Amino acid sequence: MSTALIILAAGEGTRMNSDIPKVLHRIGGAPMLLHAMRTGQVLAPDHTVVVVGYEGDAVAKAAHAYDEDVLVVQQDEQLGTAHAVAQAAPALARHAGDAVVLYGDTPFIQPQTLARMAEARAAHDIVVLGFKAEDPGRYGRLVIQGDSLEKVVEFKDANADERKINLCNSGIIMAKASTLFDLITAVGNDNAAGEYYLTDIVAIARSRGLEATAVSCDEAETMGINSRADLIAAEAAFQARARAQAFADGVTMPAPDTVFFACDTVIGRDAVIEQNVVFGPGATIESGAYIRAFSHLEGCHVSRGAIVGPFARLRPGAELAEDARVGNFVEVKNAVIDEGAKINHLSYIGDAHVGAASNIGAGTITCNYDGVMKHRTEIGARVFIGSNTMLIAPVTVGDEAMTASGSVINKDVPEGAMAVARAPQVNKPGFARKLFEMLKSRKEKRDKGAK
Ligand code: UD1
Ligand code: MG
Repeated sequence: MSTALIILAAGEGTRMNSDIPKVLHRIGGAPMLLHAMRTGQVLAPDHTVVVVGYEGDAVAKAAHAYDEDVLVVQQDEQLGTAHAVAQAAPALARHAGDAVVLYGDTPFIQPQTLARMAEARAAHDIVVLGFKAEDPGRYGRLVIQGDSLEKVVEFKDANADERKINLCNSGIIMAKASTLFDLITAVGNDNAAGEYYLTDIVAIARSRGLEATAVSCDEAETMGINSRADLIAAEAAFQARARAQAFADGVTMPAPDTVFFACDTVIGRDAVIEQNVVFGPGATIESGAYIRAFSHLEGCHVSRGAIVGPFARLRPGAELAEDARVGNFVEVKNAVIDEGAKINHLSYIGDAHVGAASNIGAGTITCNYDGVMKHRTEIGARVFIGSNTMLIAPVTVGDEAMTASGSVINKDVPEGAMAVARAPQVNKPGFARKLFEMLKSRKEKRDKGAK
């Protein structure tokens, strides 16, 4: 069965108190909208339609950054969830399969849950995802008879008996797309909120003899984010799950509560992640790599046997081959560090390539930026870069070459050569003592004058 995702993301999220639309606030380093898009991938969707409204261009940009084929439709006025879904109808006019409605502000629905809904769809025209709520509060209530879902009542419109029901509506609905859009045309807005409720399609479907059912999931999955407090709770829930997943995957972490993950962090078995390591988006750490305390890693790849940190920063495009070393106060950006190469202390290596088994001395900097453009530094294999070398890019240092400490290298260094680019040292015999005496007597005179 082919499927289309319809992701509702038009709301402003007033309670976030933010200029950023709610669905672009981040959880695990990614806009919460992307979590819904990612979960939907389990259904191998043929189309994804994101319904945007408030700050629609910004939301569209984030959706396209994740998947450039996403269709974005604008809902100018937020007249209700049914009205929002209706905006997707023209984009899916030729889609013959199913549609599933997801919310951009509900990031924790698990892929298995959507898979269970898809199974239930085989025997029912409409499948709604429900959950048993600890405190049903203002959620819509699912009215069930036997196996059949008869209707969904919004809290505002529910009578006292209906309000006692604790099986609540998550908002996620699955149906054949043409059925969904057809039912929506029959939805009105004569209700307590004056909104077009998507939930009304269930009662309409039943009155037409269609079958509806509910699938249940854990309440934690349906957590919606409406406020900063919700966002903080969601981040904590995300991190707890990511940590548990990491040790289930065999990652060694002496203090997991101090390690922070992004939603796409990949870490291999027996990799060691020490205390206070933070992963931004796009980090892959191979089996048997070692990340020492207080390091920050994003958009990078660390191979088996490599050691990073403590206090290292790997930025996007940092590629560490096997057994590479990146030590304390070293920043690596857009640079490939070949096998066994070492950058152990206080360096910046950006837009560069460091060949195998080369050693980069403390304080080395690739001067990659001229104020307007970025340039590359190429360092060969088995090179020795002396401490405090400035490599003014574009520049190439050949295999097995050396630079003298303190050199400012602005010309290529041929293979096997030693480059010395610093002022020659001059020793002046006895000069230091004479200078000390002169300075001391000057200070004495000044102190006397002050009395
Ligand atoms: C909705 C459900 C309710 C359910 C609850 C779960 C309806 C009528 N009610 O209520 O049964 O228990 O979710 O959280 O569906 N949106 C748009 N355009 C609109 C309206 C909403 O894009 O015109 C988006 C919102 O940005 C949000 C989602 O749809 O992501 C849900 O809307 P919201 O207003 O939060 O619905 P609830 O009142 O919470
Ligand atoms: Mg809501």
